[in-house]
Amino acid sequence: MRSHYCGHLNESLLGQDVELCGWVHRRRDHGGVIFVDLRDREGLVQVVFDPENPETFMTAERVRSEYVLRIKGTVRRRPAGTENPNMATGQVEIACQSLEILNRAEPPPFSVVDAISDESDVNEETRLRYRYIDLRRPQMLQRLRLRAQVTRTLRGFLDAQGFLDVETPILTKSTPEGARDYLVPSRTHPGEFFALPQSPQLFKQLLMMGGLDRYYQIVRCFRDEDLRADRQPEFTQIDIETSFMDENQIMNLNEDMLRELFAKVLEVALPKPFPRMTYAEAIARFGVDKPDLRIPLELVDIGDLMKSVDFKVFSGAANDPKGRVAALRLPGGGALSRKEIDDYTQFVAIYGAKGLAYIKVNDRAAGREGLQSPILKFIPDDVVEAMLARTGAENNDLIFFGADKATVVNESLGALRIKLGHDRGLVEQGWRPLWVVDFPMFEWDEKGNRWSALHHPFTAPTGDIEGMSERIAVDLAFSEGWGARGDVTANDIATLEANPGAALSRAYDMVLNGTEAGGGSIRIHRPEMQAAVFRILGIGDEEARDKFGFLLDALTYGCPPHGGIAFGLDRLVMLMTGAQSIRDVMAFPKTQTAACPLTSAPSPVGDTHLRELGIRLRATTTAV
Ligand code: AMO
Ligand code: AMP
Repeated sequence: MRSHYCGHLNESLLGQDVELCGWVHRRRDHGGVIFVDLRDREGLVQVVFDPENPETFMTAERVRSEYVLRIKGTVRRRPAGTENPNMATGQVEIACQSLEILNRAEPPPFSVVDAISDESDVNEETRLRYRYIDLRRPQMLQRLRLRAQVTRTLRGFLDAQGFLDVETPILTKSTPEGARDYLVPSRTHPGEFFALPQSPQLFKQLLMMGGLDRYYQIVRCFRDEDLRADRQPEFTQIDIETSFMDENQIMNLNEDMLRELFAKVLEVALPKPFPRMTYAEAIARFGVDKPDLRIPLELVDIGDLMKSVDFKVFSGAANDPKGRVAALRLPGGGALSRKEIDDYTQFVAIYGAKGLAYIKVNDRAAGREGLQSPILKFIPDDVVEAMLARTGAENNDLIFFGADKATVVNESLGALRIKLGHDRGLVEQGWRPLWVVDFPMFEWDEKGNRWSALHHPFTAPTGDIEGMSERIAVDLAFSEGWGARGDVTANDIATLEANPGAALSRAYDMVLNGTEAGGGSIRIHRPEMQAAVFRILGIGDEEARDKFGFLLDALTYGCPPHGGIAFGLDRLVMLMTGAQSIRDVMAFPKTQTAACPLTSAPSPVGDTHLRELGIRLRATTTAV
């Protein structure tokens, strides 16, 4: 039906006849001449209707916004002075010879012209309800185009590295990744349910056991969890698994992949190698395990200085083994008003902080006299001086303090650090990838009164457990390194079970500008270790057999050492396009309450259908 895309027309086509199809972006009547900006996937072009061609002119008078047109015309130069430098096709226009209205359109619920950017005031619910109109915005089209470029480039890289694209089931058994499962009732097995996969974790491990060696999949995952700007109930992973590679090899390979991706799609050169940081260091310096390295602010421990000060809030936390006292220096923060400091105090309260002490450094050389602070009176001179020295305080700085349980201090000052970075314009330009490694294997779940896996229960522990080093030496000599660290002896299991809190895992997270873009690990490949980890997690032998018997069996039939990673495709594309939410890089996302305003899903089903499934609804089905 057409010879060109609207957005591709330019001066090289002057004088040529073209046929175009597209939507009416805008129509203007100009004293007897009608101008229509015709829009398609590739952009806009101005089409001119002259009254000298009465038939097309009269049709053009009837067209409205978002009508679908087919036109034939000639490309000509715009008259001098009417060029539009802001438009790719702004040097030319189409003199229309014939016009066909392919379809009419009701006045759209919001105008594509006005809703050009996300910041426009069309509310998101409306945009999602009429997503097919929202998708016509060049910004949305551009993001989906980039997304397609990303998957194409990643596939190219992985194919070239010998990875096989293998599909894994969507109707399956629970694959725990820390969220709730979406369940699907089975008609053929009344009273039984499939779970949608939270990730293909177990299947990709089984593929390694099946000898596939290198697997990848661009795959949908489902998690029923609280939603945020970077979380959706269904999202896409770039899922990868390999056999016979250790964590360094896997991290290097994935760095190469991201470098190629950014070079090809954004023409950005990411650093080589990516820096690596331990979990402990990330928490100590940034309060979080996904630090945004573009923000040049850091937490500094001062607990040792505060043990005997006369301010209970500080000395109490300093003497509590689970407490932390930390400082966060804001260069130039002396300019903050009382009101701004109060607002930040309210902000940290969201994270449980009971206050936000501070010191303003007016004149560093003047000692106590040069400082301004509500807590100064409690702190002796030598401690004040040591604290200023340790934080590197300079004139006109402001130093914030947090004192509480370490988790509260980390979360509150960690979040404050990011907020200050953005509020004060301190976020540096560019891309700061980071590997975070040496995660704890388990964390204590206060509420559940039990250990839980920091990654997932299939992640292997490192040798950083008492009694492991000797074995590593033996195993390294025996197997030349790879995989050896995942080896298990009864002694290791005993030490692991004796002190789970001390164990680190062979996991690695890929953090990009403060967002967790991906994560993975070397997996447990011995049934004894897997069973031990289940025990530590409070999964009894019977439950383990019931839920993961197939995995435990598979581990006994020749399981290679293996490991892998998964990236969040939506998050990567969000970062690469600068979008504020992953919803903006998904064609048909769900709302914050995990619903689809376009199709009205989820929705009730009829009695017959329920009966077929052997399901009777409870009387009170209130939404949570
Ligand atoms: P993990 O649970 O860390 O690991 O998930 C991997 C990556 O997927 C993205 N992601 C999400 N994106 C959008 N919405 C969500 N709800 C969501 N949840 C996670 C994140 C995250 O880094 N099986 C392991 C991977 C492995 O060990 O190989 C896994 O799923 O970017
Ligand atoms: P108060 O003695 O409660 O008036 O507190 C004195 C200062 O210490 C105020 O600036 C409070 O905001 C701050 N403060 C109180 N509790 C904490 C805390 N847990 N961590 C950091 N600062 C605090």
